[in-house]
Amino acid sequence: MDKFVIHGGKPLYGKIKVSGAKNASLPLMAAAILAPGIHRIRNVPHLRDVHTMAHLLRIIGARVDLAGNLMTLDTSDCSFCEAPYELVKTMRASVYVLGPLLARFGRARVSLPGGCAWGPRPVDLHLKGMERLGAKIELQGGYIVAEARELHGARIVFPISSVGATGNVLMAAVLARGTTVIENAAREPEIVYLGEYLNAMGARIQGLGTDVLQIEGVDYLHPVEFVNIPDRIEAGTFLCAVALAGGDVTLENLRSDHLGAVLDALELAGFTLEVQPESVRIQAEGRARPVDLRTAPYPGFPTDMQAQWIALMARANGSSAITDTIYTDRFTHVAELMRLGADIRLEGNTAVVRGVKELKGAPVMSTDLRASASLILAGLAAEGRTDLTRVYHIDRGYERVEEKLRSLGADIVREDEPMQFDAKDE
Ligand code: UD1
Repeated sequence: MDKFVIHGGKPLYGKIKVSGAKNASLPLMAAAILAPGIHRIRNVPHLRDVHTMAHLLRIIGARVDLAGNLMTLDTSDCSFCEAPYELVKTMRASVYVLGPLLARFGRARVSLPGGCAWGPRPVDLHLKGMERLGAKIELQGGYIVAEARELHGARIVFPISSVGATGNVLMAAVLARGTTVIENAAREPEIVYLGEYLNAMGARIQGLGTDVLQIEGVDYLHPVEFVNIPDRIEAGTFLCAVALAGGDVTLENLRSDHLGAVLDALELAGFTLEVQPESVRIQAEGRARPVDLRTAPYPGFPTDMQAQWIALMARANGSSAITDTIYTDRFTHVAELMRLGADIRLEGNTAVVRGVKELKGAPVMSTDLRASASLILAGLAAEGRTDLTRVYHIDRGYERVEEKLRSLGADIVREDEPMQFDAKDE
């Protein structure tokens, strides 16, 4: 397994392009199962999670090819309706194949994902949604076994907003007989984009971007060509990197309208931003002002940016409180940031961060994807050398992260280090 060696203290200058969104690519790839034939998706990033989903689709019978950033999926010959434990345990988004398999074949056998570093993370809402659509669900030997002779429309009211449950039920409902209404649906750009992809395939979904989705079931869908949206979390991570390390960087190929809460927070923290529809320039000098935050479903501040924000606040010129309302245990980065000299106290699901003048390099270990990102950011700002182990976590969600950072002037190299693979978070 690889590690990163970072020599911090160098400001970042230049331009980089944001890659395609991981969390949009994964449901989209699963959705291709719904329409037998050849799909083409552009702007798909080379990430471990994308390769895991490709592997799963191949097991199901699809042909999947990623050339450059163009993904071609041929779902004509899919027939094996199973997501095995060995894959689901490494990537919980594998559960996204449940809805499409059920809708196309009337059956699916998908391993339960189990817990992860952030806590239990149940999939009960996915299952209740499928049951409302007429599926019979049983749990057998750690697997979700789902069957439905025919799915039918239903009114589904989610008690909490769930990206995964909304996406999964949406993919099942598009081929159900009759009308489905999903209330308290997720409004994340990745769900809007999934809905747009399904509509391009011939689905009839209304209300995308609101918390009520209305879906008129259709008899069949057809394959299409589509362009993936940019990764708003990668963009937010790089903005925080510059905010922490200092410098002047323009991020291109992004959607600034997807970044509202992060841009607002950076401005409150005192950074100068030039925001265009598809680019953001950030100029950063000196320490951030402390900014308290609570994560919330979109358009609130994303939980996937919580760890990076804590890293930024670790060197702010004052104290801040960062609360995660979505994943209340998602704080494994805190202890590692403290190894770099951060002063952070956890009070339930709130991190109370007292900004310090200087972080100091140290050996640290990443525990999940965004935790790794926060440690890279802190390492870039820290005096001296930081060795970050278990970087396979970062390879799940950031395309060529060290190359992009090096092109901005960061001193970060990848080195080989033997290590076991035990990842599972997003
Ligand atoms: C997705 C993202 C992840 C992000 C999260 C929240 C992907 C692949 N992953 O994860 O990066 O951090 O959204 O923005 O897109 N819940 C239940 N029962 C369920 C489903 C969810 O109780 O059946 C709870 C979760 O424990 C959590 C909340 O609902 O507290 C939101 O989770 P959800 O939006 O479903 O997250 P994911 O789709 O798993």
